[in-house]
Amino acid sequence: MAGDPDPLMALMFSFYEGLQRKAPGSEASTLKALALLHGLPPKPRSVDFGCGAGLASLALARATQGSVTAVDIHEPFLKQLAARAVLEGLSDRITTVRADMADPPFPDGSFELVWSEGAVYLAGFEQGLKRWRRLLRTGGFMAVSELSWLCEVPPRRAADFWATEYPAMTSVEDNLAKVRAADFEPVGHFVLPSGDWENYYGPVQDQLAVFRSKNPDSGEAQAFADSLQREIDVWKECGGSYGYVFYLGRAS
Ligand SMILES: C[S@@+](CC[C@H](N)C(=O)[O-])C[C@H]1O[C@@H](n2cnc3c(N)ncnc32)[C@H](O)[C@@H]1O
Repeated sequence: MAGDPDPLMALMFSFYEGLQRKAPGSEASTLKALALLHGLPPKPRSVDFGCGAGLASLALARATQGSVTAVDIHEPFLKQLAARAVLEGLSDRITTVRADMADPPFPDGSFELVWSEGAVYLAGFEQGLKRWRRLLRTGGFMAVSELSWLCEVPPRRAADFWATEYPAMTSVEDNLAKVRAADFEPVGHFVLPSGDWENYYGPVQDQLAVFRSKNPDSGEAQAFADSLQREIDVWKECGGSYGYVFYLGRAS
């Protein structure tokens, strides 16, 4: 378990506490991914790694009628989710757990569904899938979204930006090979639509202005905001060359 975050992490957490959605996505994409998991048992036990404020956890609980264990490293995000679960009458089926997704504190075979939106990169795509595999029995499902190149030769600006920000980013084909290497049979994948990015970047853009004015004298805060602004600008110019892809698999 991590202790107190370093100052940059603390800044990032304070920025994201103001946002419900902390990565590209939408309820429609969550439900689309769920619908592609043919053979998922009724009322599955699901785990949502890097759940943030839990938009996907809530959607899963509503749609599956099963239980959801929502895991995140940052307690205030989990508190946001727990409060929302109470408001929606879902608190008996959503459990929040503060834990490191790279070392999940659950026995083997605890779940029928492993979920993660915009977060597996923090553990490494293949590494995360390998670490989560034991939580499922053979035939269990995983659904994970991951930033992926969608073209063979990305535009220079996108290639340069992501070479620094996420050098491990790779193609859909390579990621499908990683899914197999982690002992999952791919059962589907799809690219999140551009509206899922707008869902995320719209509020981020508003939050950036607030964040800058709250931290006028912090070089670190301004540098963090500059980097996020560059990310948005790169997406506006080159977004078609990369995207978030939902990868769906069945434990082999
Ligand atoms: C990009 S956000 C995505 C959040 C959420 N899935 C969403 O789509 O809004 C990544 C999340 O992973 C959490 N996180 C970061 N490192 C983690 C770790 N080692 N274990 C568990 N959660 C972690 C962050 O606190 C954050 O909520």
